[in-house]
Amino acid sequence: GTVVLAYSGGLDTSCILLWLKEQGYEVIAFLANIGQEEDFEEARKKAVKLGAKKIFIEDVRKEFVEEFIWPSVQANAIYEDRYLLGTSIARPCIARSMVEIAKKEGAQFVSHGATGKGNDQIRFELSCYALYPEVKIIAPWRLPEFYNRFLGRRELMEYAQKHGIPIPVTPKEPWSMDANLMHISFESGVLENPKNHAPPGLFKMTKDPEVSPDAADILEIEFKRGVPVKVTNLNDKTVHTSALDLFIYLNEIGGKHGVGRIDIVENRYIGMKSRGIYETPGGTILRHAHLDIETFTLDREVRKIKQQLSQKFSEQIYNGFWHSPECEFVRQCIATSQEFVEGKVQLYVFKGNVYIMGRESPKSLYNEELVSMNVQGDYEPCDASGFIKINSLRLKEYHRLQSKAVSK
Ligand code: ARG
Ligand code: SIN
Repeated sequence: GTVVLAYSGGLDTSCILLWLKEQGYEVIAFLANIGQEEDFEEARKKAVKLGAKKIFIEDVRKEFVEEFIWPSVQANAIYEDRYLLGTSIARPCIARSMVEIAKKEGAQFVSHGATGKGNDQIRFELSCYALYPEVKIIAPWRLPEFYNRFLGRRELMEYAQKHGIPIPVTPKEPWSMDANLMHISFESGVLENPKNHAPPGLFKMTKDPEVSPDAADILEIEFKRGVPVKVTNLNDKTVHTSALDLFIYLNEIGGKHGVGRIDIVENRYIGMKSRGIYETPGGTILRHAHLDIETFTLDREVRKIKQQLSQKFSEQIYNGFWHSPECEFVRQCIATSQEFVEGKVQLYVFKGNVYIMGRESPKSLYNEELVSMNVQGDYEPCDASGFIKINSLRLKEYHRLQSKAVSK
């Protein structure tokens, strides 16, 4: 049969490609350009050498930003209060274009190099099953005949060498990385001991705030329907308007000022805790800006309901259910909530932080006259007395009961 392999150009998926061929499959290599630093031409050449029947390198950056990052920004999606889900949203995007190719090429199988202990296998496979129900999945890292043979990096290197495959000359960094436009994640290896600090030189997208510039960048971010449509740097007047452009620019500014680094222990869906380090510069700037314009424009009670949906959404994303009826439903609800989330937020980015400076909006629910200490507006202060009295009823009753219990 024919198998489409999610190929990265690295040692693992190179060996998997060879191994799949050894098992008698015809292999189509699929490599998504999702914004990671990568020499795609080099990867193509390597896949040819490995004996891939066909190679597809797809640039999915625009759809990744518009269809995966933007909904996450609208939702303020965040997992366990800290993780902005950079890897979690990339998997359903990659799986979607991979499945398209599998269908077009008449491939019945898909394969990937995710380990048997992680979240990625779940996200990847649930997405594939959802979008291509007849598909058969080969996950080598869950097959004893594979993992008992390739016990570590050494066996993989030997196998590659034996097949005349160029093995990486530079020693691998002692942790695993996953990079895309949204973030880079660092896990495993020396990071597995949760007490170990991030080694110097680990971060790639962001500067250490300790050596970042001593002058801030002041940005104005304009939103429409909860999504950024224009970023203006008020220092040098540069303007970015297309989704991909402006997101890349926010990464650049956030990176320059060391914004968006976190070091956490999180709960994997599969049931274990894991330690991860992340850098999400542009996503972190947008989170601050969006939270601000949203609170400015959204009704209080709608906001509360939407916040609960956002928590659901974040969990669905993390657990691999992007392509599910419940996630589609929640995405639509969230998109609806964003209809009037528009306006401009001004902020400055400095030494690892994002500081909001001001905001304006044609759709704001803020009423300066109503809230002013100096103007009466459409409001009678004496009405507040009744409001407070009625609210105090329960509190008084509760206190009376408590003092009775104590005096007994
Ligand atoms: N723990 C993060 C997540 O589950 C990052 C996973 C990184 N994946 C990887 N293949 N290195 O989303
Ligand atoms: C992996 O296991 O492939 C990476 C970590 C994860 O998916 O959670």
